[in-house]
Amino acid sequence: GIPKFVKIVEVGPRDGLQNEKNIISASVKIELIQRLVSCGLSVVEATSFVSPKWVPQLADAKDVMEAVHNLEGARLPVLTPNLKGFEAAVAAGAKDIAVFASASESFSKSNINCSIEESLVRYRAVTRAAKELTIPVRGYVSCVVGCPVEGAIPPSRVAYVAKELYNMGCFEISLGDTIGVGTPGTVVPMLEAVMAAVPVEKLAVHFHDTYGQSLSNILVSLQMGISTVDSSIAGLGGCPYAKGASGNVATEDVVYMLYGLGVKTNVDLAKLLVTGDFISKHLGRPSGSKTAVALSRV
Ligand code: HMG
Ligand code: MG
Repeated sequence: GIPKFVKIVEVGPRDGLQNEKNIISASVKIELIQRLVSCGLSVVEATSFVSPKWVPQLADAKDVMEAVHNLEGARLPVLTPNLKGFEAAVAAGAKDIAVFASASESFSKSNINCSIEESLVRYRAVTRAAKELTIPVRGYVSCVVGCPVEGAIPPSRVAYVAKELYNMGCFEISLGDTIGVGTPGTVVPMLEAVMAAVPVEKLAVHFHDTYGQSLSNILVSLQMGISTVDSSIAGLGGCPYAKGASGNVATEDVVYMLYGLGVKTNVDLAKLLVTGDFISKHLGRPSGSKTAVALSRV
């Protein structure tokens, strides 16, 4: 059956804003994070300590993290691609981090400029350093069903990378359909392979909505026992190194579906709608959440 409670990991301030053409000020990012926390979201991914040459949109990671790291009520993980990023994150007050590997060799190269195996070596160093400071580490696997260059990715490769991240101490592994090509037809066999390698309670799903498949993919994931779902306010998102990838599934739409299923989330949909409105107005475009658009007409 479907889990009674689902933990939502809000990735809008990171996955959403990393791909924006216009530079968003640190003060808007800080207000967005504060508003998301006040919606009842227990995890809000705040920013990334990556190279500003690779992701200029998040070059203000230090300012953002210093301003929010003492917020009560939520964990605020940040992405760290290497020890340099880890050290900068900790210095700015981060208490949770995430590392990000790929199941596709080509995507690993274009996103973090190294092979999958090289990235795992780096991440072992990061998880070791984090363990010394008792900082929990989340592990991402990208391109879990498809890669913009390589096409279909074998489930066994996803299971291998997920297991490596789990073995190095990641407390949770988020499976990312980076370019949003998956359907229940490809997601289910991928999850079966990963669940044979990593306990299901350690898994999260991370869908981009490029082909409109996210909610169906989330539903089959829930039916398979997964109870952690990544999403993004107003459906913001996309990876600058994954051409054509659109936003993440909208948090508002996930909360609406979970409410309909009778699944508890502790997230306040009305507050979420106001927050989605806030960031959409700042970005100067309509919300990517169908629920937000529908309810604004009621
Ligand atoms: P590189 O160029 O190979 O790095 O980049 P390097 O080690 O050779 O260093 C080059 C320069 O970068 C040096 O500076 C370093 O100090 C600096 P210089 O001497 O030239 O002035 N540098 C850094 N600066 C700040 N913070 C750091 C850092 N590390 C090195 N941490 C690197 C390798 C990994 C750094 C780069 O490729 C990078 O930053 N990539 C990040 C890309 C990214 O953030 N992508 C989006 C997130 S992943 C995603 O969206 C998918 C996900 O949502 C899941 C899904 O959807 O599937 C998670
Ligand atoms: Mg993503």
